[in-house]
Amino acid sequence: MSEIRFDGRVAIVTGAGAGLGRSYALDFAKRGAKVVVNDLGGARDGSGASHSAADVVVNEIKALGGQAVANYDSVATVAGGENIVKTAVDAFGKVDILINNAGILRDKSFAKMTEDEWDLLISVHLRGAYCVTKPAFNVMRDNQYGRIVCTTSGAGLYGNFGQANYSSAKMGLVGLMNVLNIEGAKYNIKTNTIAPVAASRLTEDVLPPDLFNKLKPDYIMPIVLFLASEANQDSGMIFNCGAGWYSRTAIVCAKGVTIGDGKRPIKPEEIQDNWSVIKGLDEAKPLGSVAESFEYMMPLLK
Ligand code: NAI
Repeated sequence: MSEIRFDGRVAIVTGAGAGLGRSYALDFAKRGAKVVVNDLGGARDGSGASHSAADVVVNEIKALGGQAVANYDSVATVAGGENIVKTAVDAFGKVDILINNAGILRDKSFAKMTEDEWDLLISVHLRGAYCVTKPAFNVMRDNQYGRIVCTTSGAGLYGNFGQANYSSAKMGLVGLMNVLNIEGAKYNIKTNTIAPVAASRLTEDVLPPDLFNKLKPDYIMPIVLFLASEANQDSGMIFNCGAGWYSRTAIVCAKGVTIGDGKRPIKPEEIQDNWSVIKGLDEAKPLGSVAESFEYMMPLLK
């Protein structure tokens, strides 16, 4: 087993003052990375702010002999995102690794969800990833090296009652990853996404206590560190992880059915007659870009 090290690497972990982000930050530092510990220090619902969350983790890292600096900006503004990246560049000269992890919850059934609850979740999770990734991506592009890990959720991938705002924002991150995968390829920037399940303040009233105690954030850390390492050559993938289970999950395209000849009209009844094949997932596979989906239509476009 070759050891995964981050000597000479600079990592930004957003929302690293607690939960999963704290676990990543500590282990990046233990393995030699210089770490920017970003955390707004607000409440679970996004209200408030405090320096103590980031400061505590920076002090923990320093006590272990590691190198870290704190940043207290919200990821949800362009100025904040730029300052998070500037903190890394000013303190350590570059950015090699970005973990888009900061997050909040405002659960409500869709019928009762307010515009503010919708906007805030999109702002922290999706706009937040944009605000930090944009300046970080540019530094990585200049250095021809980068590893980005985004954080989605099973709630977005598969659905969960009461989380329309959160789920929509989290699936937005999958779209961002898909494009960064393509645009980062020539710069050796690899972007992947995790869908974790772990004990934290976000899940303490969702998970039963016996499960909560078993779902340690330290079981998410290993896959995040691997994806963020030089050893990882994969990009554009989504991974479920929790309690020691690691599994790829994907948006796939099935073989489907070809009706007509690309010239004659097609009737709704022909969809009805072919419905079991159209909705079936025969020969389903992930695609590397939207262009690949055109190949299925090519016989009809000649
Ligand atoms: P957590 O609440 O323990 O940690 C999130 C951290 O992000 C907090 O320290 C918070 O202060 C910080 N934060 C919130 N808004 C911020 C902002 N605007 N700018 C900077 N920092 C901000 O939660 P946890 O569980 O560690 O979550 C980490 C990520 O994992 C989140 O994106 C969450 O949505 C995601 N996730 C977690 C799951 C779980 O089972 N714990 C499940 C699926 C996804």
